[in-house]
Amino acid sequence: MYLDRLRLDGRTAFVTGGAQGIGYCCADALAEAGGRVTIADRDADAIAAALDSLKAKGHHVDGVVLDVTDSARVAEVADGAGAFDILVNNAGIARSDTPAEDVADEHWRNVLDVNLNGTFWCARSFGRHMLAAGRGSIVNVGSMSGFIVNRPQPQSYYNASKAAVHQLTRSLAAEWASRGVRVNAVAPTYISTPLNAFADQQGEMYRRWIDSTPQGRLGTPEEVASVVHFLASDAASLMTGSIVLADGGYTCW
Ligand code: NAI
Repeated sequence: MYLDRLRLDGRTAFVTGGAQGIGYCCADALAEAGGRVTIADRDADAIAAALDSLKAKGHHVDGVVLDVTDSARVAEVADGAGAFDILVNNAGIARSDTPAEDVADEHWRNVLDVNLNGTFWCARSFGRHMLAAGRGSIVNVGSMSGFIVNRPQPQSYYNASKAAVHQLTRSLAAEWASRGVRVNAVAPTYISTPLNAFADQQGEMYRRWIDSTPQGRLGTPEEVASVVHFLASDAASLMTGSIVLADGGYTCW
């Protein structure tokens, strides 16, 4: 009974930023559980490579080119596809290199546009169909940066965007709970993906990340995907408005 509630047979899922990193592993996890998964990404070549890899595992997947900052296109894709059972709002960018006093308008707007606006456009458009169907599960990818301030790299824009994603998660959860739609988020620590490739693994910054983490390591994208899968599934049926830390203990210190 308990394992059955993790199964997603007959369910459909839409994963943004699904062509690589955490999003790719979310698509892999949801499809392995039996779901039919659509990966959406702004990078068409990366989608093609991801689909080849996922189909080679026997998964039922397809892909769509989508920039989540384009609200009209998000609505078009959502309306064209009908109701998905699961939405994973994973597309995000970091650009973690600029002190607050030097952040240009374009830099600030770009990060907020992808991480916060993109999450809202997708939740709104796909959420409408879920509300009409009376069921659905949305999982947003937040960050421990929505709770703490990372050190040593300055990234005020990223931290602010992820804190906003967490509060958006709780707000949507409260609005939609009585209509059958759950909304939760995962808040990961540093994860080994291309997003963090800017960090020199022999360098001082990387060492501080490790030293600040009780488990003494970065996470893997598969470890985030496991949490997303759980939250998306009926195994988490009592959970809505939860921000689940997957941080190797980082926020304990
Ligand atoms: P990544 O850079 O490896 O992959 C991000 C994917 O999103 C790429 O395929 C990219 O093409 C796509 N994407 C970016 N902007 C897009 C847009 N406007 N529209 C559609 N697709 C877009 O990143 P990663 O590490 O897999 O991150 C995924 C999510 O996890 C992000 O929201 C990130 O903020 C969050 N996260 C990542 C952590 C990390 O340490 N890697 C830690 C905590 C949260």
